[in-house]
Amino acid sequence: MLSDLLEHNVRWAKGKVREDPDYFHRLSALQRPEYLWIGCSDSRVPANVITGLEPGEVFVHRNVANLVHRGDLNLLSVLEFAVETLEVKHIIVCGHYGCGGVRAAMDGHRHGIIDHWLQPIRDIADSHDRELAGSDDADTRLNRLCELSIAAQVEGLSRTPIIQSAWKQGRRLAIHGWVYGLNDGLIRDLECGCAGGHGHRESS
Ligand code: CO
Repeated sequence: MLSDLLEHNVRWAKGKVREDPDYFHRLSALQRPEYLWIGCSDSRVPANVITGLEPGEVFVHRNVANLVHRGDLNLLSVLEFAVETLEVKHIIVCGHYGCGGVRAAMDGHRHGIIDHWLQPIRDIADSHDRELAGSDDADTRLNRLCELSIAAQVEGLSRTPIIQSAWKQGRRLAIHGWVYGLNDGLIRDLECGCAGGHGHRESS
């Protein structure tokens, strides 16, 4: 029931204050997270919960299938604020296996507006046609496509003027591509990350 949520909230807030009387005062005065999380909207992949991060420790943007559309004002506003004002040190693009967005992109049906949103996934699938065709199993193919898409979003992020300009200023800012397993609750680093300074790639 909805009232359970509000009751839980009161218990949580009181518990926090019992542990640390200054907790909310400190948190409300300052936000300085080191991480920007770009993840899928899927309710089973909550950034704070699966990484053990507390309020104040991660700035979060989520959309269906964790995509970085270059014209997405929402994402670009979040990115600019995170990089230029919060000065985060790490940007994590975290997708997940079994992503319904990736599945919907590839199932050949018409879903509505979301088909436009998911178009980049079909483009990525087309450009990795031969590799994906090498697997007979549909789930394996989709999971591989989840990984390929995450790597493509990392690459796309690295090319945005916001990131390029941060790197030109010599800022230490790394981008990482991670994938989360709904089946085991574990995050794997896809090692497709990149870091600034010299424009080199490095395993994150
Ligand atoms: Co998803």
